[in-house]
Amino acid sequence: MRINDSAIVERLKELGVELRPAVSLKEKTSLAIGGVTDELLLRRYDTIPQVMRLLADAKIPHHFLGGGTNVLIADGELPWVVLHLPAAHPGMRVEGNSAFVDASADLGGMVTFCAKHDLGGMEGLIGVPGSVGGALRMNAGAYGTQIGPWVREVELYRAASGEVETVRGNDIRFDYRHTSFADDDVMLRVKLELPSKPYKEILAGIKVCNEKRRASQPLNQKSAGCIFKNPPGGSAGRMIDELKLKGHRVGDAAVSDRHANFFVNLANASCDDMRRLIDDVRERVRAAYGVELENEVIFWRN
Ligand code: EPU
Repeated sequence: MRINDSAIVERLKELGVELRPAVSLKEKTSLAIGGVTDELLLRRYDTIPQVMRLLADAKIPHHFLGGGTNVLIADGELPWVVLHLPAAHPGMRVEGNSAFVDASADLGGMVTFCAKHDLGGMEGLIGVPGSVGGALRMNAGAYGTQIGPWVREVELYRAASGEVETVRGNDIRFDYRHTSFADDDVMLRVKLELPSKPYKEILAGIKVCNEKRRASQPLNQKSAGCIFKNPPGGSAGRMIDELKLKGHRVGDAAVSDRHANFFVNLANASCDDMRRLIDDVRERVRAAYGVELENEVIFWRN
């Protein structure tokens, strides 16, 4: 979608928004799949309510893109624009056992920043790709650690009220890869409370998680991490593996040879290739196990 109306372009500029026309979202996602649209870089948090009102009044649909590591985006010309918080130089500071971090920060960057200030507890999250905002929204987790339990406050733009609000950690439900945030809440900043731990000890924990991850996941291939959530008490990866589907392909989309719940883009997979592969594998698992796998990856249609 193109924003061509010069009055809107001018107003966006006044609100501190950088408009980048015709951006390929292929370049912005870890799957390297996605069509083309205008990107709006929101350089000022304080104007977000006005920007959102402007887009609503002008009937310009949007999606908020974080790290782009858990989305599958349609191909071609997209009928919505993409909003993005600037990721360079995100705010991060520590005060006692509290860490205050911008949602646009890289999740791994936040874990190491806190570690350098002798704050631990998040070692398991080290290799999870993506932004802090995305991790909050999904309650990202790995190796027994989830981000949710450390959250004390989240500052967010709440579309329902049109305001920036601060929500207390106790008022947020963090479940397995799911939270009580509304779909259109926009994460802005988080306050975490973390246990004190010597840097060296945290590093040792980080090293163990990195090794486990390297041994079991296709880290140097284009993927969105696990495609499906694990069903209660089960493992999607193990089931897909047992069905001998590693290497199974639709076009350039393939089930990873290394971890069967990772689907990879071998070269030029289209969104359609990936969707057909996902549906096919879901159907085979349903037929064999009677289990309906739920997507972990989020799909943005055109
Ligand atoms: N397994 C297989 N074959 C495979 C993959 C796994 O037999 O191809 C078996 C493993 O041997 C193990 C079991 O399945 O016995 C579980 O595998 P793993 O330890 O790799 O964990 P997972 O349940 O597949 C989850 C998260 C990952 C996270 C790891 C480590 C989900 C959907 N996945 O994977 O998160 O990194 O645990 O904690 O919850 C993600 O969310 O995108 C993600 C990658």
